[in-house]
Amino acid sequence: LAPDPRRRAAFVGTGHRAELYFAALLGDHADAAVPVALCDPNPTRIAYYRRLWQTRRGSPSLAAYDAAQFTAMLDDQHPDVVIVTTVDHTHAGYVAAALEHGCDVICEKPLTTDLDGCRTVVDAAERSAAELIVTFNYRYSPRNSKVKELVAGESIGTVTSVHFEWLLDTVHGADYFRRWHRDRANSGGLLVHKSTHHFDLVNWWLDDRPESVSAHAALRFYGAANAGSRGEGTVPDRDDPFTLDLAADERLSALYLDAEADDGYVRNADVFSEGITIDDNMAVLARYRTGALLTYSLHAHAPWEGYRVALNGTAGRIELDVVERALTVPPGARCDGVDTGSREAGTRLTLQRHWAPAARVPVGGGDGDHGGGDALMLADLFGPPSADPLGRRAGYHDGINSVLVGIAANESAASGQPVRLDELGVGVLDPANV
Ligand SMILES: NC(=O)c1ccc[n+]([C@@H]2O[C@H](COP(=O)([O-])OP(=O)(O)OC[C@H]3O[C@@H](n4cnc5c(N)ncnc54)[C@H](O)[C@@H]3O)[C@@H](O)[C@H]2O)c1
Repeated sequence: LAPDPRRRAAFVGTGHRAELYFAALLGDHADAAVPVALCDPNPTRIAYYRRLWQTRRGSPSLAAYDAAQFTAMLDDQHPDVVIVTTVDHTHAGYVAAALEHGCDVICEKPLTTDLDGCRTVVDAAERSAAELIVTFNYRYSPRNSKVKELVAGESIGTVTSVHFEWLLDTVHGADYFRRWHRDRANSGGLLVHKSTHHFDLVNWWLDDRPESVSAHAALRFYGAANAGSRGEGTVPDRDDPFTLDLAADERLSALYLDAEADDGYVRNADVFSEGITIDDNMAVLARYRTGALLTYSLHAHAPWEGYRVALNGTAGRIELDVVERALTVPPGARCDGVDTGSREAGTRLTLQRHWAPAARVPVGGGDGDHGGGDALMLADLFGPPSADPLGRRAGYHDGINSVLVGIAANESAASGQPVRLDELGVGVLDPANV
């Protein structure tokens, strides 16, 4: 029998996000790599993936390991690549162990959540010849790639400042306050968990990294104290669009409701209950090494979802306005045909050079999740090798440089003082030095 030329892929973390990669390897990218093992502390979620495997492949069960057996899995299965889609704070340990075993790693963002995690990853990555890819899917979204192309082409000269506002709505934003993310120890808070995407985009667009960060952050809407101060109760007294019925969704039931008895993890905690240790309104100021300034805000209870970015340069300005959801309706409610009022979903990319009229820049593609980024990223990860003129494939230095901004912002928000990134003791991280 000829040896199987496909790479052997092991999965750690068999929750929601793993399915993007798992389905790709059972479908469009089945010739690139084959799943050989699953690892997770929750047997019900592992069973969900084994069912997917058997339905699609009709072949014997996939090997499965408890989280405590991760290194045993590496020893037994000899994967070429490990796909890390676990709870954020556990990424660094798995990444380091996999690299130490000589496995390539594909790791979901954020690469890690704290300074210890940064040091663990940097240390392992620098000692290993294996490749570590951080899956920054937003880079692949055509509109964000176009901004990179415009900046790299010096269409606005040297970038001097960036203004970036990201809005999470009362469905997607609220979800972070129902799940494990609500505990800062798990996610690093949204300035790490979510903003790692946004800080990475700015770092990538500018081909630079911040030297100094200041921030303020607060929990103003979600949580028991905020609801109480508005005279609102908690579930079950309340029955409103913020309650999520897992039983109404087959996939959510299979992944989480049926799995609750295994580990006690409740996927749909009340967003107005006690125990939330992350913020829902965040403001960050950063100065890049080249002198560019960043003003950034993240808001997690907006009535619509999308983002606005403006990049000012010595020769003009780029503006990117994205409305992903013009009107947010309660989970499970119909949204097709709904009157969205004066706001329309869509993307507007504008380039205006000094002394010239504004020009609308066409943005191609964009279907699918994360502005079309997921499908393009999968093709880059598993498809035939292709040129990467925009440098979209992100390595560990990119993963670290973006989480460091969030970690510094958290530190500044707590202390009230600006934080210099080179004083955080993580070393590196210029791609040229790696
Ligand atoms: N790039 C994106 O757009 C995007 C989108 C969604 C999720 N993600 C990332 O994917 C990762 C997983 O998120 P998710 O939405 O699938 O969450 P999830 O809760 O659905 O899945 C997380 C899984 O990790 C497992 N887990 C918990 N503790 C573990 C441990 N100690 N060791 C191993 N596994 C452990 C859980 O049992 C669960 O199966 C996160 O890091 C998240 O940031 C990225």
